[in-house]
Amino acid sequence: MNIILLGAPGAGKGTQGEMISKRLGIPTISTGNMLREAIKNQTALGMQVKKYMDEGALVPDELVLDIVAERVTQPDCSKGFIMDGVPRTVPQAEAIDAKGVRIDHVVSLEVDDEAIASRMSGRRVCTKCGASYHIVNNPTKVEGICDSCGGEVATRKDDEPATVLNRLKVYHETTEVLKDYYAKQGKLRLVCGDQPIEDAQADILKTIGVTE
Ligand code: AP5
Ligand code: MG
Repeated sequence: MNIILLGAPGAGKGTQGEMISKRLGIPTISTGNMLREAIKNQTALGMQVKKYMDEGALVPDELVLDIVAERVTQPDCSKGFIMDGVPRTVPQAEAIDAKGVRIDHVVSLEVDDEAIASRMSGRRVCTKCGASYHIVNNPTKVEGICDSCGGEVATRKDDEPATVLNRLKVYHETTEVLKDYYAKQGKLRLVCGDQPIEDAQADILKTIGVTE
């Protein structure tokens, strides 16, 4: 099953993506995590994208599409994948379609902008595997240590309030239109993201036909 997770910054794409991944045994393709990894490793790509990510702006389509095209052809994606944070522009969605990548469900996690701000201030992210936590809503079992991989958790550079506002603006101006794009293809599934994490997960599994 090939799934796209859409939603504003902080809507819960990373959190829900990891849960679906464990449940269905298919990998997540998180462009945000891949780009942060490139910055951490100071690769040529990392150097190119750092300034965009620090500002909360989108990275140019061609850079993102290159890494996605490479990732979906890897063997672990043969039984399915969950795209988190990609596509984010109409040209990205069109390029994915043009490559013949089949998409079964596009789940949009719906959360108001007001709820996003408090989520972001409490978010902590694993510096090793990218897993997402929240100091109140979803804390790590051991303070400061990732439950999944034992890495160190820290705040994300682009979670400063001003940068979050810019990311929300970019979402509404450029990414939200993808809901219409996929509604026209009959693939859009709207899920309330402003409810407890487990309830949102249950709604997602139902809407993609995993549970009844
Ligand atoms: P990316 O890493 O994708 O960030 P984002 O889309 O802004 O989304 P976030 O990761 O901030 O939020 P999320 O929806 O994953 O929420 P999470 O589960 O963590 O992209 C970062 C940057 O990379 C972009 O700005 C851009 O520069 C670049 N980029 C990436 N992809 C790109 C692309 N395709 N094209 C161009 N540029 C690209 O949850 C948030 C917090 O809330 C956590 O603390 C979590 O514990 C908590 N939480 C989750 N669910 C709930 C709930 N139900 N109730 C209460 N709290 C909850
Ligand atoms: Mg994320």
